[in-house]
Amino acid sequence: MTVDVPESVRQLFGGGVAETLVNLRRDLHRHPELSWQEEATALRLMRALQELGITEVTRVARTGLVARVPGRTRSGPAIALRGDIDALPITEATGLDFASETPGVMHACGHDVHASWAVGAARLLVANPAERDVLVILQPAEELGEGAAAVLESGALDDAQMIFGGHVDRRFDVGQVVAQAGPLAASTDSFTIIVTGAGAHGARPHESHDPIVGAAALVGALQTIVSRRLDPAEPGVVTVGTIVAGSASNVIPDRAELTGTIRATTPAARTLLGTELRRMAEAMAAAYDLTASVQLSAGTPPIVNPPQIAAAAREAVTNVLGLDALVALPNMNMGGEDFAMYMERMPGCFMRVGAREPGTRAIPAHSPAFYAAEGALFIGAAVLAECARVGARHPY
Ligand code: NI
Repeated sequence: MTVDVPESVRQLFGGGVAETLVNLRRDLHRHPELSWQEEATALRLMRALQELGITEVTRVARTGLVARVPGRTRSGPAIALRGDIDALPITEATGLDFASETPGVMHACGHDVHASWAVGAARLLVANPAERDVLVILQPAEELGEGAAAVLESGALDDAQMIFGGHVDRRFDVGQVVAQAGPLAASTDSFTIIVTGAGAHGARPHESHDPIVGAAALVGALQTIVSRRLDPAEPGVVTVGTIVAGSASNVIPDRAELTGTIRATTPAARTLLGTELRRMAEAMAAAYDLTASVQLSAGTPPIVNPPQIAAAAREAVTNVLGLDALVALPNMNMGGEDFAMYMERMPGCFMRVGAREPGTRAIPAHSPAFYAAEGALFIGAAVLAECARVGARHPY
């Protein structure tokens, strides 16, 4: 192992297991594949799982896999563990000796480590099984927010009762884990607003219903949803990402189109932001004698860890790493995570797993310089395997 991990974790990966997992991680990192294109990745992970002696490995959701690790008694519903496997369209600038060999594609979100720690968790559960069966999911297309829904649709998780997953995070040292109840990731809905008026000569605005002036006022007004309608103690975002209108400097066009994203961390705030956005757009358009049509597209829901399952995860972290490993999220990350789709179907807990070598900097994910410290791989594997064991003992 290249990075210090606690002795309690180190001893779980003896007999060449650590080297095998590091090789797997580096191999995946060298050969990243974009969402829905994870063909070689799926084959590599299939091989890694079969080498563990796991016989039940199923291809699901096009480029995903679900492996069933038998439990001790095999009574009762299964526990699911999830690792995502896709990369991003980014050119790597880490300087790692196992950097991407595919131009323009990079594991800039640490899913190489998530895939490897899922295999590592499977290895630990083969050696020391949970009470019940464990379904290890290797999920494609997380970056598009589409993979989790496809895995659920496959029916592979129909007998699962509870799910655990996590994400590497360089805001925390290797060995630190966030496993708290409550919000952990934001919803990711998007919107399109079409403001329609009437065009005219740019020198004769009184003959127009100018959608550009209305759209400009609307952009400012939309910012008051978060500042005036949402409880200031709750995080939320309304961002207009594009405005398209007009074709010439001396022509007033007849329409303007705005698109953007809405982020919230509770179902109630998510509903409020969407409702207020629609109301504000229609009211502002009316004020300028225009019309607005608002289209909201549902993205992934927020992740809100229920207290009981978070308690199971905290028990698992404590068993593996001791109580000191548990840390609190300093502030919400308003990014989304399609793990939330599983949590609409079954209770679960999503964790943040420290991935920074102590004393080094907190490189954000989705940056060309991002990589997860190797030690995170072993922490994630050990914690997830223990989550399955603890979860299987809970009488839900
Ligand atoms: Ni990610």
